[in-house]
Order: sequence, then C-alpha cells, then structure tokens
Amino acid sequence: MASVVVVGTQWGDEGKGKMVDLLTGFAHVIVRFQGGSNAGHTVVIGDDTFIFHQLPSGILHEQKRCIVGSGVVLDPVNLVEEIREVKERGYFKDDRVLLISEEAHMVMPYHKRIDVAREKKRGAHKIGTTGRGIGPAYEDKMSRMGIRLVDLVDDEIFREKLERNLEEKNFYLVNYLQDEGFSFKELYDQYRALGEQISCYMANTSLIINQAIEQGKDILFEGAQGGLLDVDHGTYPYVTSSNTVAGSACVGAGVGPVRIDRVMGITKAYTTRVGGGPFPTELDDAIGNHLREKGGEYGATTGRPRRCGWFDAVVVKHSVRMSGLTALALTKLDVLQGLEKIKICTSYTFKDKKIQEFPASLRIQNECEPVYEEISGWEENISTVKDMSDLPLNAQKYLKIIEQLVGVEIYMISLGNERSQTMMLKNPFYRTRETR
Ligand code: GDP
Ligand code: IMO
Ligand code: MG
Repeated sequence: MASVVVVGTQWGDEGKGKMVDLLTGFAHVIVRFQGGSNAGHTVVIGDDTFIFHQLPSGILHEQKRCIVGSGVVLDPVNLVEEIREVKERGYFKDDRVLLISEEAHMVMPYHKRIDVAREKKRGAHKIGTTGRGIGPAYEDKMSRMGIRLVDLVDDEIFREKLERNLEEKNFYLVNYLQDEGFSFKELYDQYRALGEQISCYMANTSLIINQAIEQGKDILFEGAQGGLLDVDHGTYPYVTSSNTVAGSACVGAGVGPVRIDRVMGITKAYTTRVGGGPFPTELDDAIGNHLREKGGEYGATTGRPRRCGWFDAVVVKHSVRMSGLTALALTKLDVLQGLEKIKICTSYTFKDKKIQEFPASLRIQNECEPVYEEISGWEENISTVKDMSDLPLNAQKYLKIIEQLVGVEIYMISLGNERSQTMMLKNPFYRTRETR
C-alpha cells in the first residue's frame, strides 16, 4: 500500500498523462489536486488519443476511483464536454467512479474573458496563458469572492454570490478592459443547468481519500503543469496561478503530509515550454526544430508550438528539492535519436559567476548562460526497446549522467507515446525491484 504523488519537473507537458495512465494499473484511487482546464494530459491507447484537461488521466481504467480535489479550479462547461466525449468513445461507463470536491472553486465565463482580455492588454508583456481563466479564478478564491461547486446546489447562495461578482466583474470588464460584460440571467441559467448535470459527482472527497488510505488502498496523486510553473517557486510571473510542487497534493486533496510515501517527478529527456518567460537552454535552431517536429511538441490544450531546448539539470534539481522527489520517470528519450551530439546543461554562468541553483531573479533567469556537458548521440530507433541493456550505450550513458546530476534514481523510461513503449525498472508503489 502506498500513496504516490506524480508531478511535472520542468515547465509542464513532460508526459504526466501517459505515466499516470500507466501507474493507474497499480492504484485504486487517482486524484487531480490543482490547476484546471489549463492542463492537457495525453493518453494514447493503440490508435486512440485522449487529452484530459480536468478528468484524472486514470479515467480510462474501469472501476478505478477518480477524484478531482478541492485545489482544482473547475470549469463545469469544459468538464461536461470532456465527460460527454469520453463516454461517447466508450469509456467511463459508470458515473460512480468519478467524485468531485464540493469545495472546488468554479471557473466562470467572466474569468476566461478577463484572462484573455488582460493578456491582450499586456501586449509584449503577456504571460502566454492558456486563456482558460485560471489566474482570475484563483484570484477570486484567494480574495474570498469565489463561487464553489457546493454553491451551485443552494439557489439562494448561488444567486447572491453571482450578483455580487457580476457587479464587480462587469465593471472591470467594461471600464478597464474595454470588453463586454455578462447578463445575470444568462449565467444563472447556464450554471444552474450545469449544476444539475454534475451534482451527482459532488462529494466530500477529502473524507473519501483519507478513508481509502486507512483501508490500505494505493493512491495516485496526479499533478498538473510543472515545478517551474509553480506560483511560489517557478519563473514568476511567468507561471501558473497554483502550487504545482508535490506539497500541493496534500492541500489540494485534503490529506496530511505524513500520508504521502513517495514522489515521482516526470521529466522530459529535453526541455520544453509554452508561453512566455525565461528558458535558459532554449534552442532557436535546427536542433530545436528537430525536437519540436520529432517530439510533436505542440500544446495539448492550445495547439501552440512549444519552445524546445536541451535538458537542464539546474531546472530539474530545483524541482527535486521543491517537491522532495524520490523517483524520476524520464520520457521522450526516443525523440533524441538521430542527433549527432547531445548537450546537458549542468550549471549556468552570469557575469562570470557560476550558478548551480535555479536563481530567483527574472533578470538572471533571462540572461544567464548555460554550461553544457556534451555526449555523442545514437542512430538506432529505440522506440520498441524493452530492456535497459538493449539501449545504445550512449543512451545508457545519458541516463546515468542525468541520474548523477539530479541525484534521483530513474524508475521509468518512456520511449514512445503508447502505453507499451515504457520500461519500468522499479515500481514506485513497491519498495523492491519487483514490478508484479
Ligand atoms: P502532460 O501534460 O505532462 O501530460 O504531457 P502532454 O500530454 O501535454 O505532452 C506530452 C506529449 O508527448 C503527448 O503528446 C504524449 O502522447 C507524448 N509522449 C509521452 N511520452 C512520450 C515518449 O516517451 N515519447 C514520445 N515520442 N512521445 C511521448
Ligand atoms: P500540463 O498539465 C504547459 C503555462 C501557460 C502559461 C502559464 C500560465 O499539460 O503540463 P495559465 O493558463 O495557467 O494561467 O498559464 O502556464 N501552462 C502550461 N504549460 N503545460 C501545462 O499543463 C500548462 N498549464 C499552464 O502556457 O505559460
Ligand atoms: Mg500537457
């Protein structure tokens, strides 16, 4: 029995969806604990591709309990759409497997409009958000203006909160952002109807997760985004509006920290980022294009091309510390095939000074120079390799260097987007090398 938290260690899109789907095979309960529909988690099964925004990536497994915790900002419009799609494709047949925290705050249409209009107004200084209303929804939660899921089933409270919010939001939208406001009736009717559709999933999820732990069940906590997008520890202000580090699993799911046994960081074999903000190892050249095209590096939520660059050990080490990682899963190693030389960033320099830890200053993040170690690449296609010893020696060497630099053991290696293209060297749900 174990509770394992899975988090991204870079700027998101590390392949968390694939790994969570795979690890769901060993868990009873899968919990999303932060973020919202800004996440795009891809799961590929044979010829079928699914992109999950709010549903836990374990939803394709029958009879596994899937939970959306109170730390998530839930967009009911998107959720209903996601549920409809996955049901239409023959999955998620039993409504009872999904539970959503009644404490979760809702993303309202005005949050999305504010998000988009603000980005427009920022011009060159825009963050490059997903436009899903995440920042404005978390702002309202923190300023105690937010509307929670539980409010949807209490007409009096919902009306009162919506009225108060609209008074402020409409003023801000019209007078400051030069955009359009919303009519009360339109939103009221829309959200009451949505409430009817999703009220069957609402529950006291913290209670249910804690009970499952007490019964000896295996729990998998699924993080969204990545360590460097964390609102406290990331490349602020070019971050998302939630805590993406592993500690956030406790807050967002409503479990105590001593309940967590292990933390697995998902790490891409190189680095990508969508949206604005510093990226020390970014490649604006043919190698960057190779990574983007071979790796299919286009946003799962917005379709935007992802910025690509070399593996950055300073970045991943930052996540190791912030999340207390006990295991790594390395994804997309196959994408490096065919590169003559592969570089690994081991530290930075800034004004002739060596920097070993990820700096807080935006200026240093932007202006530092990466220091690289270089190894030779490999020509062989590794996407069907099943055993570590069958990997080209240079690929094995690459993995060893990463382990040594970041100081965490690699448990899993992903060599393609399909479930079967994965090597499990060690299972984070077990203490031994046995993988059942
Ligand atoms: P997430 O947000 O962390 O779940 O990652 P995304 O789903 O946004 O992006 C990861 C992309 O890489 C998806 O298209 C996956 O299907 C794909 N992917 C995951 N692991 C691998 C891998 O090992 N090799 C390759 N080539 N693609 C992978
Ligand atoms: P997954 O879970 C990659 C980025 C956006 C933007 C910044 C703020 O799929 O890894 P937001 O809409 O959250 O206010 O945008 O964060 N971002 C992501 N980048 N993967 C994600 O999720 C992301 N979620 C948000 O591109 O730079
Ligand atoms: Mg993604």
